[in-house]
Amino acid sequence: MVRKIGVLTSGGDAPGMNAAIRAVTRIALNNGVEVIGVHDGYRGLMESSFEPLTRNAVSDILTMGGTRLGSARLPEFREDEIQNICIKNLKREGIEALVVIGGDGSYRGALSLTRKGINCIGLPGTIDNDIPGTDFTIGFDTALHTCIENVDKLRDTSSSHHRCSIVEVMGNHCGDLALYTAISCGAEIVVSPETGYDELELLEKLRYLGDAVHKNHAIVIISEKICDVDALAKKVSLHTNFSGRATVLGHIQRGGSPTPTDRMLASRMGEKAVDLLMEGIGGHCVGIIDNEITSMPIDEALSRPGRSRKKLYRLFDRLV
Ligand code: F6P
Repeated sequence: MVRKIGVLTSGGDAPGMNAAIRAVTRIALNNGVEVIGVHDGYRGLMESSFEPLTRNAVSDILTMGGTRLGSARLPEFREDEIQNICIKNLKREGIEALVVIGGDGSYRGALSLTRKGINCIGLPGTIDNDIPGTDFTIGFDTALHTCIENVDKLRDTSSSHHRCSIVEVMGNHCGDLALYTAISCGAEIVVSPETGYDELELLEKLRYLGDAVHKNHAIVIISEKICDVDALAKKVSLHTNFSGRATVLGHIQRGGSPTPTDRMLASRMGEKAVDLLMEGIGGHCVGIIDNEITSMPIDEALSRPGRSRKKLYRLFDRLV
């Protein structure tokens, strides 16, 4: 029976990470298992930056965005030598197992530590919704709300001025934030890694919407890392009847109080992680599939093909 576990958050922070830390801590303590918080992701393991988490230490964090433990990206964690230092520090602290909340890079780290003798469970925490083995990640719903709130505001002003708002959203290499925002906000065009990008085609569509459909404004939602949205807005002004304006939503998408959906998801996933560790299971990740909390081996999740969004792109096309 495991007596002491650690919990860390790694990679880009996401709303709901605190709710997951709270769930892991409360459920473990209620089962007689001690909990140690690890600061700043895998860096805290390397530097032995630990903090015992009591019941009260996680009071009042359920509603807070960000992560109370701090987060970091540590590419060096791939190195065997660094992992061995972390294992030594974990053993010295008496931490027998670990919950890792983060993205797929964090999952790989969790798998390596499990193979070296410390059972780890991965929880999907990122606004990008790009983690295999789950339908939704902790933080995606809150980020989507932020996108929707902002695009709705842009719609007001862009329709007053016969403008085309080009809105860049995050997502890393996954188009979910763009696609879900575009459907929820009634955008005219969505551009994502899944749709591909053809500038001439986009300008042609906007000319059609202005000239033939007589739309007095247009909204284009575009995933980050695809094109320079400021340059695109200038081209829209030059080559269509719309005046183009670009907005990059940026890091505001990562902040804010988690939505009820994210609070529920994080609490349910935190519970599952502790249950798995108490059963002596490691190297698994937790997911939500068809609204059921599930788990599967991390290597199986990482080798699964990405989810198809064909039906949702088709829906988007049929709504325009
Ligand atoms: O993975 C979350 C995310 O916000 C991505 O959407 C984005 O590409 C990246 O992190 C930004 O990273 P940083 O905060 O290091 O600039």
